[in-house]
Amino acid sequence: MGSFFKFSTFILSDSHISFGEIRVSIIFIPHINMQRRKFLKVLGSASPALFAPQLMQASSASFIGPVVISTWAPNVKANAEAWRALSNGQNALEAVHQGVMVPESDPDDNSVGYGGLPDRDGAVTLDACIMDHLGNIGAVMGLEQIKHPISVARKVMEETPHVQLVGEGALKFALEKGFQKENLLTEKSKALWESWLKKSNYDPLQSIREIEKRIRENHDTIGMLAIDAEQRISGACSTSGMAYKIHGRVGDSSIIGAGLYVNNRIGAATATGVGEDVVRICGAHTIVEMMRQGYEPKEACRIALERLIELKGEDYARKTQIGFIALNKAGEVGCYSMLPEFSMAVRDAEAEYVIQAESIFSSDLK
Ligand code: GLY
Repeated sequence: MGSFFKFSTFILSDSHISFGEIRVSIIFIPHINMQRRKFLKVLGSASPALFAPQLMQASSASFIGPVVISTWAPNVKANAEAWRALSNGQNALEAVHQGVMVPESDPDDNSVGYGGLPDRDGAVTLDACIMDHLGNIGAVMGLEQIKHPISVARKVMEETPHVQLVGEGALKFALEKGFQKENLLTEKSKALWESWLKKSNYDPLQSIREIEKRIRENHDTIGMLAIDAEQRISGACSTSGMAYKIHGRVGDSSIIGAGLYVNNRIGAATATGVGEDVVRICGAHTIVEMMRQGYEPKEACRIALERLIELKGEDYARKTQIGFIALNKAGEVGCYSMLPEFSMAVRDAEAEYVIQAESIFSSDLK
């Protein structure tokens, strides 16, 4: 059953990609609703919305096994760390926390943590959030000089009566908790910012497209979801946000319900891309609610993207990029994006691999 659900029967064509010592398959999957059919067979019904509670039971009953998923192919490295935590008996919360710390420490990753591209004033400002299987949440926004915003978000969750801390308050809190101030602006990111300053043209889509062109060495925001052996689901999300943003801008990655959402009875979702548009449709929460209605993770991601088209029109949607990933209580996973080039890294008991997401539009050039 495991290989059936983990898409290996869906391979149309495959190739490989390497990240350091990790070499993984890239899998292209067609839009076949096999998982959904399986659910409906369990339910004996063709109406997902009417049978949501039973579906949740069916999902629980057919648990495939633990899995970790992340936005973007290079996060196979982050998944490996998360999987190590799960393999050592740690829970999904520990797994996503430790996994997300990997790109946060990586100076070559210029969209997360240390080495992240700065805002237009030259400040690296970080957003992150975390959510566990009990509905506990924590987030930091606009945090500067702290390499691991996900760890500060977790402290907010576990050691304060609040759920979000912002800017100077978040930094003060982090320092009180023993985090060390560091310069997060690497020479490489500084040089890119100085080059941008010459024209000072802010174009979120262009930033994302440039990142996608460099996808084999780089990526955008990390959103990570995990389900452990006891079917506890957790998620974490971390970013330096849109390059050259206005100082003080916050995207989706620290907004619970937009960049990340977990409902331990249903599943979880997380996002990457233009944060303004993810916030506009409460992306991650919408996906979880679609899974509650019985949609498989991939379909749920697509439906959330369609909400943006409904809200802002096709011309608008063609000029933005959003990538969603999701998993449900059974451990099934899926992804979808507005424009091409988005990918999801997957790690389970059988393999580590990358799924190239299908997209709503084939190009943003029309
Ligand atoms: N998705 C990251 C951001 O817009 O900040």
